Amino acid sequence: MISLKGRNFLTLKDFTPEEIKYLIDFSAYFKDKKKKGEPVDELRGKNVALIFEKTSTRTRCSFEVAAHDLGMGTTYLDPSGSQIGKKESIADTARVLGRMYEGIEYRGFGQDIVEELAKHAGVPVWNGLTNEYHPTQMIADLLTIKEHKGELKGLNFVYMGDARYNMGNSLMIACSKMGINFTACTNKKYFPDGELVNQCREYGKESGASITLTEDVMEGTKDADIIYTDVWVSMGEPEEVWSERINDLKPYQVNKGAFENAKADAIFMHCLPAFHDLKTKIGEEVYRKYGLSEMEVTDDIFESDRSVVFDEAENRMHSIKAIMAATLGLEMKK
Ligand code: CP
Ligand code: NVA
Repeated sequence: MISLKGRNFLTLKDFTPEEIKYLIDFSAYFKDKKKKGEPVDELRGKNVALIFEKTSTRTRCSFEVAAHDLGMGTTYLDPSGSQIGKKESIADTARVLGRMYEGIEYRGFGQDIVEELAKHAGVPVWNGLTNEYHPTQMIADLLTIKEHKGELKGLNFVYMGDARYNMGNSLMIACSKMGINFTACTNKKYFPDGELVNQCREYGKESGASITLTEDVMEGTKDADIIYTDVWVSMGEPEEVWSERINDLKPYQVNKGAFENAKADAIFMHCLPAFHDLKTKIGEEVYRKYGLSEMEVTDDIFESDRSVVFDEAENRMHSIKAIMAATLGLEMKK
């Protein structure tokens, strides 16, 4: 019997493959309940705090809808609306919120901040994205892969773009734990950190997953089941890096060429938001300055039937519901 009651959800490193599988199954269970319109409000009377020091669409909405569906109340703390870090330390904030709420979500900058929060809160803390990791996104992504590919073990997963930031790191952890072969296909400046690569190779010894780092697109995408990318410049990074990033990562844009060597039924994934056209302010600015109308993924791939990005986005809500429910003590009913 798996119980995740009282656990923090910070990096996924401390979760076993069985526990991750449980969270994927629990997410599918909640998805089924939602589709059937069956209530799941068993956490009535509980409340959660949602701290966002960076902006969000999916993660915030997922936490809010999931909490409400579970019967819980929410408080949203935006980047300017609290004392956090400015007038009050993280440790003090944690001890205050821990007295009022049954769980705390944190999205922000350094991983050390969410770790500090978890150390002092006395209630489960969920990492809603830091510079280093994005673990709640992993359960949604694994559920999405399972929905489209059936089994996880033995699949070939290729990440193209900035593989040394939150998404690359977390995907490498998630894949290596679950037996999915992980390839970072990018300029070597953007390979994930060596220590984390070694740690994931250790997970791979258990699960059978391999980790490959390559700068060669043809080699990297060969026989891929999944091609994944993320923005080239992440939240909190300075604007000045755009020019270098475009120069370094343009060869790793996910386009028709990248799919040529992949399996015929390969799917495209992206955590979103994505720059695939000129319908965003930043997209327009980049076009004006650098003449690039599509960035990490071309519009034809993004809009193609290979693309499962909106399934992924929907699954954020079901999986965040499962993560909150499991760590707050609900168990999946057969
Ligand atoms: N994928 C993701 O975390 O999206 P948001 O930044 O909109 O929350
Ligand atoms: N790497 C991106 C992920 C957004 C969900 C960022 O940190 O901005």
